[in-house]
Amino acid sequence: MQLQQSLKASKYRLVITGFCLIATTTSGCGPSAATSLDRRFLAGNKTGPNTSQTTPQANESINAINNSNLMNAARLNSFRPGEIWRDTEGQVINAHGGGFYVENGVYYWFGEVKGQDGLARAGISLYSSTDLYNWRNEGLVLAVDKSNPDSDIAEGAIIERPKVIFNKKTKKYVMWFHLELKGQGYGSARAGVAVSDTVRGPYRFLTSFKPNNEMSRDQTLFVDDNGKAYQIAASEENQTMHINELTDDYLKPNGKFVRAFIGRSMEAPAVFKYKGRYHLIASGCTGWDPNSARQAVADNMMGPWTELDNPAQGPESDVTFRSQSTYVLEVTPGSGQFIYIGDRWNPDNLADSRYIWLPLQYDNGRFTMSWKDEWQWGQALPVTP
Ligand code: DGJ
Repeated sequence: MQLQQSLKASKYRLVITGFCLIATTTSGCGPSAATSLDRRFLAGNKTGPNTSQTTPQANESINAINNSNLMNAARLNSFRPGEIWRDTEGQVINAHGGGFYVENGVYYWFGEVKGQDGLARAGISLYSSTDLYNWRNEGLVLAVDKSNPDSDIAEGAIIERPKVIFNKKTKKYVMWFHLELKGQGYGSARAGVAVSDTVRGPYRFLTSFKPNNEMSRDQTLFVDDNGKAYQIAASEENQTMHINELTDDYLKPNGKFVRAFIGRSMEAPAVFKYKGRYHLIASGCTGWDPNSARQAVADNMMGPWTELDNPAQGPESDVTFRSQSTYVLEVTPGSGQFIYIGDRWNPDNLADSRYIWLPLQYDNGRFTMSWKDEWQWGQALPVTP
């Protein structure tokens, strides 16, 4: 893997689309969360062949972007947060609410294929990269079920925030995602689980459930050094996070869980470990609209967790640079170079949501990040090594 140490003068300008604060159907932050998403979006619910990478509706939105610019599949050598990010074929990357997995020097980016609205009409995409800048589209790794409207993952369900971990005992790649059954808005609050023998999939959908019979919306997975895995999810109508220990095969909760950040209305959890401590970056709960990021630290995954201050610093830190966390990626395991990865949602056209990747700096027990128009991952080095 090649590390570019110097930024080349950019011929591009940062393009920031107007961020819309219009209320849209959201996952909600209280008891009234179970809204009827389908009513608003059924009109766009077209069908297409199962094998397509994206649905006609998703294609329509993304093609508008692709056609509005000169196609550009040039090699990239820096991050440009908030700009349109194209894959190695010149197509706009469609992998929102992403989860990352690294194996043999290859980074894998799993994400939601978004169309204009929030309904899943394609499924979960996968991209791969060896340098984090240039991503190759590996296709759809979990497709919605277009043949069975009663399937848990029927076309028109809501499938968000896929995360993949590898189980050393079973040799299976295990994917968890937030699942809302078709036609129930955000009312069903379930976790879906799929497996594959290879990282590139396809992933076979196994089941969906409420972990420990509790609600589960925004979620992530974390595997500790000892192989123990956890699902961390917004529960109790998004008021309280649940940290669920998983069984040894990572396919379900083992029954042990803790309630954390009680009543703090946190979403979008991203968990990572540094210097033997567990760190969490998350968001508040304002639907598709951005808010101040949360940060917390613990000596034990099951808590107690101590909340720290907003990791974002400087202008627009109060709205996390108009983004919502989805993952914190360590560039090389053990390097301490962490990247904050977030989504800048565009609720008017979710396919045109952008990606905000920023370097995290570690100082005195906490992480901070500030805005950068353009940067390279050599700059993600912690202040205190
Ligand atoms: C915020 C969540 O973080 C997103 O994943 C999505 O569920 C939206 N809410 C929907 O309102």
